[in-house]
Amino acid sequence: MQLSAIQGDITTLAVDVIVNAANSSLLGGGGVDGAIHRAAGPDLVAECGLLGGCKTGEAKLTGGYRLPAKYIVHTVGPVWRGGDEGEPALLASCYRRSLELAASRSVVSIAFPCISTGIFGYPLRAAAQIAIDTARAHAADPGSIEQVVFCCFSAADLAVYRELLG
Ligand code: AR6
Repeated sequence: MQLSAIQGDITTLAVDVIVNAANSSLLGGGGVDGAIHRAAGPDLVAECGLLGGCKTGEAKLTGGYRLPAKYIVHTVGPVWRGGDEGEPALLASCYRRSLELAASRSVVSIAFPCISTGIFGYPLRAAAQIAIDTARAHAADPGSIEQVVFCCFSAADLAVYRELLG
């Protein structure tokens, strides 16, 4: 399993699965969630409305609609409250559950945004370390997934990922 980091707009990536940093309603929002809903089109929110929401640390799968990606995994990251309220375990769960759900559909490639590090306020470097560690742990039992892409929106975020990936 290959891990890489790029800078870009996740809605444009031609991977099998993109991951959305959603909220528990799954009905859209700002940030990357808003961008994904805009790019996928209105059929996405219709499917999301049938899913009954999503708990923090969990993940649910939909079609990709107008996106190049076949599927979207919607996961709900923790709101950062200082780090002593289970945030690291919940963020790791987002990555783990997303990878498991993607692998259950026999996909090969998956791209993640920097979950929780925007509106939800999780410090980027700590979040990136969890993202990388959880993906590497999953690589021990990778199933179908061969390629994990960390899609950073900013150059500063990309620099941190590149450093941590070594
Ligand atoms: N492609 C890749 N990354 C992006 C894009 C994009 N098109 N747009 C933004 N980002 P955020 P969160 C980056 O706030 O912190 C929503 O309202 C962004 O720069 O999108 O998990 C949801 O509905 C940042 O690095 O997600 C929830 O209510 C990263 O994506 C809440 O925000 C995550 O920032 C979730 O907050």
